[in-house]
Amino acid sequence: TVPAHIRNFCIIAHIDHGKSTLADRMLQLTEVVDPRQMRAQYLDRMDIERERGITIKSQAVRMPWTVREGERTGESVILNMIDTPGHVDFTYEVSRSLAACEGAVLLVDAAQGIEAQTLANLYLAMENELHVIPVLNKIDLPAAQPEKYAEELAHLIGCQPEDCIRVSGKTGLGVPYLLDEIVRQFPAPVGDADAPARAMIFDSVYDIYRGVVTYVRVIDGRIEARDRIKMMSTGAVHELLEIGVISPEMVKAGALSVGEVGYLITGVKDVRQSRVGDTVTINQRPAREALGGYKDPKPMVYSGLYPIDGSDYPALRDALDKLKLNDAALVYEPETSAALGFGFRCGFLGLLHLEIIAERLEREFNLDLISTAPNVVYRVDLEGGASVVVTNPSEYPTGKIHQVHEPTVKATVLTPNDYVGAVMELCQGRRGVLQGMDYLSADRVELRYTLPLAEIIFDFFDQLKSKTKGYASLDYEPSGEQVSDLVKVDILLHGDAVDAFSAIVHKDKAYAYGTTIAAKLQKLIPRQQFEVPIQAAIGNRVIARETIRAIRKDVLAKCYGGDISRKRKLLEKQKEGKKRMKMVGRVEVPQEAFIAALSTS
Ligand code: GTP
Repeated sequence: TVPAHIRNFCIIAHIDHGKSTLADRMLQLTEVVDPRQMRAQYLDRMDIERERGITIKSQAVRMPWTVREGERTGESVILNMIDTPGHVDFTYEVSRSLAACEGAVLLVDAAQGIEAQTLANLYLAMENELHVIPVLNKIDLPAAQPEKYAEELAHLIGCQPEDCIRVSGKTGLGVPYLLDEIVRQFPAPVGDADAPARAMIFDSVYDIYRGVVTYVRVIDGRIEARDRIKMMSTGAVHELLEIGVISPEMVKAGALSVGEVGYLITGVKDVRQSRVGDTVTINQRPAREALGGYKDPKPMVYSGLYPIDGSDYPALRDALDKLKLNDAALVYEPETSAALGFGFRCGFLGLLHLEIIAERLEREFNLDLISTAPNVVYRVDLEGGASVVVTNPSEYPTGKIHQVHEPTVKATVLTPNDYVGAVMELCQGRRGVLQGMDYLSADRVELRYTLPLAEIIFDFFDQLKSKTKGYASLDYEPSGEQVSDLVKVDILLHGDAVDAFSAIVHKDKAYAYGTTIAAKLQKLIPRQQFEVPIQAAIGNRVIARETIRAIRKDVLAKCYGGDISRKRKLLEKQKEGKKRMKMVGRVEVPQEAFIAALSTS
């Protein structure tokens, strides 16, 4: 297809504003999906995505469309719809998907209005110089207020309220018109057809049958089925096994030319060899310069993952090896914990990423896991000039420390006017610094904060929701690091530090952390044969203490002599109970104590 007849676009929206539903309607209208095979949210392939209703991996679909109305009636074009992931953890992937497009449909729920991710995505689209079509969705809802939100949107984008297209992804109302407008408003791709090939990877997915499937947008030149391709970030050369387009299943093609979107299969087995953001060229006639914007994925949040049953350790390792094939951002290395045994220290893009991996390990691989409280990455400057990177609080250096750097984020919170005070209070309590505040309309406020990442990875989002009755929305992106007054708090059981409970916290919050964990453990750990002190300490200084009093546990005393079978039963029960205990020094700690103490609630 010649570029003039191609339109590459994406749909950007706040979570739940109806992106997948609208995409489904487009697939149906363009007759790409057989109506009999149509199922809700066709593009969300993974089970977890379907259950959680979120899109994790982006996909691209090629849809033929013939304009139905207006001056271009009858014109046939190829629409490439690139689906973008909707969550803050995946901002980089979103930015690459946007870079593969010329236009973005900015979808806003007509009953909700603009939310934090609407803004964040819009800013990303503008950075990538995309043409934006504002669209109000769900106009079939009785609670929809398209007039009101058209004003808001127009004000934000700098267009007229009439320019906002009104649709219902659910009923399909307005969707053919939207497709016509996409053809009319979005620019066709431009690129140099004769230049050496350059294609940008915007997604890369591992498939058990076919190996890695790489999604690309050809920027210049042409890639043919028999070419040998070269990854420009690593110089690695691969044989092409297949090349094609998605419509909506894989369809083989002979070539992908300038402006086109499609997939490549090379037989590599690991998405790390085919990374999002990288440039693909042809080995025979390589491009001189890669396309801009490539970044290595950088883990932001770390957590220790331990099998509850120690013998599952090899299974956990195998499972992580498998998941890694499909996830270039997942990193892990073996670690041992005195309290939890053998496990892995894993790095994630964010909390949702962590939750998804933990859930997949439990569900797809049948593993029972304990995950330690998530922590960010600290950079510790020692006196004398050396600097160490700490991804595990229990490995915090013990020598003289000059200063500690922690990562920060730029957060955008959108809230109704009434809750501005509550949001500010929350952010200040989390060491936030207000950077700016804008009224998007009379009753909707945008607050911009710089916050330590460590302060939002726990329950910040839940707190924000509960303090604003669910009305506020949040988006954030990494924004470097800052020097902070941080200390390591250890938790000691019977005099021994329990590594899984060590945490790096701000000095002003150390006391609260220490007392909370000590009090939780005091409730969770059963009495032992001897008295067990629980202490929280910074270095040698104890800042909190609880005590578990001793008891003599004699289960047999309850059975008045005689009944031997009852006795045996009781003994067995006690043995069972023991199995789920971990010995920490001399203290028996039930598994639940770790899970409960490490949970944030
Ligand atoms: P993420 O992929 O999680 O970002 O969500 P999404 O933006 O793709 O939203 P999705 O399409 O899953 O829709 C969210 C909810 O809104 C679902 O319950 C849909 O059924 C509903 N919905 C979507 N479009 C419409 C619409 O036009 N009208 C009505 N009434 N409901 C809609």
